[in-house]
Amino acid sequence: MEELRIPENFIWGASICGHQCDGAWNEDGKGDSVLDHATTCDESKTRRFTHKIDPELRYPSHYGNDFYHHYREDIAYMADLGFKSLRFNVMWTRLYPTGEEEPNEKGLEYYRNIIRELKKYDMEPIIMLSHLDFPYHLATKYGGWTDRRVIDLFLRFARTVIEEFHKDCKKFIGFNEINILCQPIGKLLGGIVPEGDFAFNIVKGNPEETKEDIDNRFKALHNQFVAAASMAVMAREIDPEILIGGCVSGKCIYPLTPNPKDMLASQQAMQIPDWFVGDMLVRGDYSYFAKRYLEKNGIDNGALPEDAEILKKGTIDFYGVNYYSTGCISADTSVAKDCAMNMFVSTKNPHLEASQWGWQIDPDGLRYLCNEIYGRYNIPILILENGIGAAETPDSDGKIRDPYRNDYVAKHIHAMKEVVDDGIELMGYFYWAPIDLISASTGEMKKRYGFVYVDADDDGNGSFKRTKKESYEWMKKVLHSNGEDLD
Ligand code: BG6
Repeated sequence: MEELRIPENFIWGASICGHQCDGAWNEDGKGDSVLDHATTCDESKTRRFTHKIDPELRYPSHYGNDFYHHYREDIAYMADLGFKSLRFNVMWTRLYPTGEEEPNEKGLEYYRNIIRELKKYDMEPIIMLSHLDFPYHLATKYGGWTDRRVIDLFLRFARTVIEEFHKDCKKFIGFNEINILCQPIGKLLGGIVPEGDFAFNIVKGNPEETKEDIDNRFKALHNQFVAAASMAVMAREIDPEILIGGCVSGKCIYPLTPNPKDMLASQQAMQIPDWFVGDMLVRGDYSYFAKRYLEKNGIDNGALPEDAEILKKGTIDFYGVNYYSTGCISADTSVAKDCAMNMFVSTKNPHLEASQWGWQIDPDGLRYLCNEIYGRYNIPILILENGIGAAETPDSDGKIRDPYRNDYVAKHIHAMKEVVDDGIELMGYFYWAPIDLISASTGEMKKRYGFVYVDADDDGNGSFKRTKKESYEWMKKVLHSNGEDLD
């Protein structure tokens, strides 16, 4: 039997985003993002959104892991680990504080410094243009992505980024997990916020919606599709060497049983969050089930006939997927939805174990999903996020022991070797996230993903000092052996 291997040109990368790392939320001219108004969750996993920043409350993005002041040290750790690339986002609000005015020179300088630092270690930057960062000003002035004028404002920001950085960066991605807007919880990330303060449970997700809310959500999604496609066309005009990626949250939902009704339920459960956007990003059109879904639910997504051309022209070159876990579905609606997925709930799979946050661990699911994606689209796949979040504190000897992280990563790397062996063009693997950062869903610091521990708590107290965890040396060996040495 031939030994399974990772190809030599494979991109081993680290994934992070500004909102969860940077902190410095109002430093050097940065404007506020919508999520700068969201607090850390309480015990019931509920977060609050307040229009006015309340000094009595804790807003996790205000401190993140303080990457803004530690980026040199953090990039040095990533390089030492053996990562060859960093995928990060340029925050719209650092460059255009309200989303509208002239670019903020200090914001540009920060990203120039990051790229300079990456080049020092021969690490490739991969830039995401939108990752949980939507200017608060545009949310209150325009109603977020529901307003088509936001498309042009986004393109202005995107042009600044691409023109500034294309010499060093040849891969750009529009929106992180653009399919989040297929779910009610996504509307906050689409910049759709009501006039008053409100509370939300981002883990359980899915608040009640009116017909207008649903229309708005699909309007926002459509406008993001147009923005992403227009950005792709513009980027290729600026520099024909640029490759454009999409980024989809891989929601892989198995049938709970072989009952044909469960099979159909599973097929449908993947159509809306995954293929609804995948088909648009890769083929440049709404697929038959997407059109039917919009029509059956009487959804007005505000699409204009002239959008069709740009959507067709601005398709992606590679399919980025964030993959953490899988879920199950039963056609029987009385079966409990008792399994947490990433901003989504599903039914537990009796064959799988779960992380401390209840996300089911399923390396085979990665192979399954990659085959589904490649069979459907036949374009290269890039795994843009994968990792395990766990509560960790140093033992009395100061060491942070996280053997489950080695286990999780080793199994997913093994699954990737099978993916490659299946004949799929797999471009690379990005670990989320090499240095502890705050959780996107709950805002907690205690949900730690890193190989490097950050001394900070859920309230942003601590020294923010970095310490290597036990998994650090293991991961270094894995990366330096191109994924060969997984022991
Ligand atoms: C992905 C997001 O969906 O999941 C990241 O792109 C996020 O921003 C990651 O951090 C893990 O989710 P969480 O809620 O554990 O931070």
